[in-house]
Amino acid sequence: MIETLIKKLPKAELHLHIEGSLSPEMMMRLAEKHQVALPYNSLEEVEKAYQFEDLQSFLDLYYLGASVLIEEEDFYQLMWVYLLKCKEENVVHAEIMFDPQTHLQRGISFSVFMAGFKRAIEQAKKEWGMSVMLILSYLRHLPESDALQTLELAQEYLSDCIAVGLDSSEMGNPPDQFKTVFEKSAKAGLRKVVHAGEEGPPEYIWSAINVIGAERIDHGVRCVEDPALVEHLIEKQIPLTVCPLSNVKLCVFADMKQHNILDLLEKGVLVTVNADDPTYFGGFLNENYLALYRALQMNEEQLIQLVKNSFIASFLPNEVKQNWLKKVKLIRQ
Ligand code: HPA
Ligand code: ZN
Repeated sequence: MIETLIKKLPKAELHLHIEGSLSPEMMMRLAEKHQVALPYNSLEEVEKAYQFEDLQSFLDLYYLGASVLIEEEDFYQLMWVYLLKCKEENVVHAEIMFDPQTHLQRGISFSVFMAGFKRAIEQAKKEWGMSVMLILSYLRHLPESDALQTLELAQEYLSDCIAVGLDSSEMGNPPDQFKTVFEKSAKAGLRKVVHAGEEGPPEYIWSAINVIGAERIDHGVRCVEDPALVEHLIEKQIPLTVCPLSNVKLCVFADMKQHNILDLLEKGVLVTVNADDPTYFGGFLNENYLALYRALQMNEEQLIQLVKNSFIASFLPNEVKQNWLKKVKLIRQ
């Protein structure tokens, strides 16, 4: 049974926004705790609001949801509940994005959210040996000057992060506008990932690769519109962290049957499966794999390759990658 295999395989998650793992229950509980006014009166109303037309209609709710996160304990709880889910799903390594500007704008400092995140991560490492890395993501709907200021404020916490990323509203905000802040981040020792080609055109993916020097593209599914770009991704083995349920929820594809991830995989693109914002998009990592089986008849071989890709495309040291790849092979037999 493929369901059992999906669950049993050790997997890596490479595209997960921690603020997008806030459940409606936690949102309501924290709103009550901090007396934050939300435009919902019940859990049902929150869930009903999760009907999105595009990326922006989702982001409006996502930022509203994040407004209930205020104290260190809230950030700890958010991270801890997500890491427990990883344990349940056999996600052994997670590279987790967070949006500092969403919190800084509300007067919440790095010391507050980083302390909460780090406490939960340390606990998961200690209790079950989970491996976790953090990706500090800049918001592209704000000017680069804001991102530069964020980098300044982050100095003390850069050693806790593996990479910097770029997320939020893609259209009209191409990666090249953030060249300087990515250069400075790289000088500080951080790796580079960029959301591109989710809603934006292939040119944004080129810009992420050629101008920013992104090592990994988040989403990237619109690469198919440019055959030379697909060739380049294959030749250089630049990974795409694809998020199937997210893409359908945000109408990037009309339904899962239209999704191009398996076509890209068959062509030789280094695609991976990821959850993006699981509580908003209807499923954590295993649900994303399952959706590919149900809608696209993903076979066992494709599943194994996707899971292997999740380790290959990760920022883990090479010997650790090789160990996980061996374990994946053993479980399959
Ligand atoms: N795209 C852009 N920004 C985001 C996303 C996404 O999928 N999730 C959270 N912020
Ligand atoms: Zn994302």
